Amino acid sequence: MAILEIQGAPHAAILGVGAYRPVRIVPNSEVIEAIDSSDEWIQQRSGIKERRFASPEESIQMMSVAAAREALEAAGIDARQIDCVVVATVSHMMQTPAIATAIAHELGTDEAAAFDISAACAGFCHGISLASDMVRAGSAKRVLVIGVERLTDILDRTDRGTAFIFADGAGAAVVGPSDTPGIGPVVWGSDGEQYDLIRQTEDWRDVIAADRPVMPALTMQGNAVFRWASFAMAKVGQEALDRAGITADQLDCFVPHQANMRIIDAMARTMKLPDTVQIARDIAHQGNTSAASIPLALARMIEEGTAKSGDTALLIAFGAGLAYAAQVVTVP
Ligand code: UT7
Repeated sequence: MAILEIQGAPHAAILGVGAYRPVRIVPNSEVIEAIDSSDEWIQQRSGIKERRFASPEESIQMMSVAAAREALEAAGIDARQIDCVVVATVSHMMQTPAIATAIAHELGTDEAAAFDISAACAGFCHGISLASDMVRAGSAKRVLVIGVERLTDILDRTDRGTAFIFADGAGAAVVGPSDTPGIGPVVWGSDGEQYDLIRQTEDWRDVIAADRPVMPALTMQGNAVFRWASFAMAKVGQEALDRAGITADQLDCFVPHQANMRIIDAMARTMKLPDTVQIARDIAHQGNTSAASIPLALARMIEEGTAKSGDTALLIAFGAGLAYAAQVVTVP
């Protein structure tokens, strides 16, 4: 094989971030009746005050394109300069083709490679890792990474363990070349022994075989996931700091997956993050949006000025699988 030498960039960085939050705000008072709960219980156990539910018009594609356009604008890049679109989602209800292709087309970047990845709540950080590797290896110069969910399509509104947590939204980031390191080494993995803790209730084939036209829903053994996330994920976060060559004192922002406010606090405590570290708490207003949660939380911090350009931020994502991924990034 006569391989043509491809030159990648010396480093990769996030060049811009964007967000799309569905218009409809749903307070706890709207979800409690169906699950015999209370505003007080939900706030105490999860930190969630309200979330956003998408309307029929706010599709996976529509929300993704809106978030992507904002990220492209923040990066100062035209969509035609993107040569790969990676979409992390578990709630695009068409098995094939990948929604990334339709999103690339609507953005006007038809020649880009486009594909979806399924790593649930860890999907965005998986996408950032792939994008960073592509940019440095030279297989893509600029990559658009989108995390998007319409979890309400697969939510059982009467399930006490999930109905108040999950929500909808989209976030996006443009990853491109940089002279200095902007995305640290990824620490990722999975714990398939706990494969069953968060999953779809049924295989589609069983639904069809039973002649029961009911959409399979998300189901979660919340307490087991809570214990795993609170302890195992702090170690993963620490390893991401170590691999990036920084200590907790040098960190400016902590942007973990927005799963539960108590998990966020437990991780910060275990990692002994100093008070100077700004912590993302988007979950209070956004709920748990799985693959969209980290870019949404980061976008809010940038918008509010708690994350500033050049800051060092630790991203850590975890969820169904149980899959996880973490890396230190420079805020664009
Ligand atoms: O995004 C992917 C990763 N996901 C996560 O990381 C989620 C992790 N898990 C969690 O966030 C938490 O487990 C939940 C917020 C889902 C639940 O909190 P918990 O503290 O683990 O509650 P629990 O399931 O242990 O239940 C505690 C009590 C029980 O009552 P008793 O047995 O102590 O009397 C439940 O029956 O709370 C009761 N309960 C509820 N009460 C009101 C359970 N669900 C509800 C509810 N409203 N919705």
